Amino acid sequence: MTTVPGSVTPHWLRLRERADALARSDRLVASVSAKLPDGETAEIHDLGSGSGSMGRWLAPRLPTSQRWVLHDRDEALLEIAAAHPPAAPDGHTVLVEVAPGDLARLVPGDLSGASLVTTSALADILTLAELTTLVDLCTGLGCPALLTLSVTGDVGLWPPDPLDAELASAFNDHQRRTVDGRTLLGPDAPRRMVELFAARRADVEVASSPWRLGFETRRLTEEWLAGWVGAACEQRPGLGGFADSYLALRREQLVDGLLEVTVGHVDILATPRGSG
Ligand SMILES: C[S@@+](CC[C@H](N)C(=O)[O-])C[C@H]1O[C@@H](n2cnc3c(N)ncnc32)[C@H](O)[C@@H]1O
Repeated sequence: MTTVPGSVTPHWLRLRERADALARSDRLVASVSAKLPDGETAEIHDLGSGSGSMGRWLAPRLPTSQRWVLHDRDEALLEIAAAHPPAAPDGHTVLVEVAPGDLARLVPGDLSGASLVTTSALADILTLAELTTLVDLCTGLGCPALLTLSVTGDVGLWPPDPLDAELASAFNDHQRRTVDGRTLLGPDAPRRMVELFAARRADVEVASSPWRLGFETRRLTEEWLAGWVGAACEQRPGLGGFADSYLALRREQLVDGLLEVTVGHVDILATPRGSG
């Protein structure tokens, strides 16, 4: 895996953390919990951990002591993660260590002894080759992998607007764009993950994990809308002439408590046969 354009900011990760926490699937956590080794400290590798949101969500929900290893190339985000470790579940401990570096350089030995591999909001910014490497790494380890919050490309806005469908289509094309020779998976990531794991005879569970945005998440909704429309216009410049009035209308609806947005994601739990 190589450099992904447009690095993510601590502000954006902080803004989305609560919506992410509400969106991720509790059903898959129950499934993961049943697959962790009994009475042992679970070793969990979070790939593309950013500022550690996945661990803060998952660790208190698992019925065991844990040692988390957070992998990311962004050392500033890892510093935040280390400063804000997850809460431990009752009667257990949680240790966190950070492993700065590019995921492209990971070798199976770096993850040996893993009880679980996790990701959050990572798969859609990878290429097919990078995702294939990630899936091979996970299945080679023989432990479950919980890959959460991959965008599906399905966006629902209420009340509807005639521009919604074209913006969504342009945004999804933008997510699949080629940058520096890398063609990103964008909304194709969920389907590709399922295919790749199934081809390696892993059992795959899929759960819908949409963001539900609106007045309660006003700042996130505003920033998401601006980013969604901005990317769509970058992809199809002809939409630019409509962007300001569209955004003004959507902001007005948001402030008045009239706007509801659903942003589709899926969580995937893949378990190699014979593990767990
Ligand atoms: C969208 S953010 C998600 C962060 C975190 N998992 C979360 O849910 O808040 C993607 C993260 O993957 C990291 N990342 C992307 N490609 C990477 C690579 N090739 N090597 C290491 N980290 C990478 C980025 O630095 C960023 O922190």
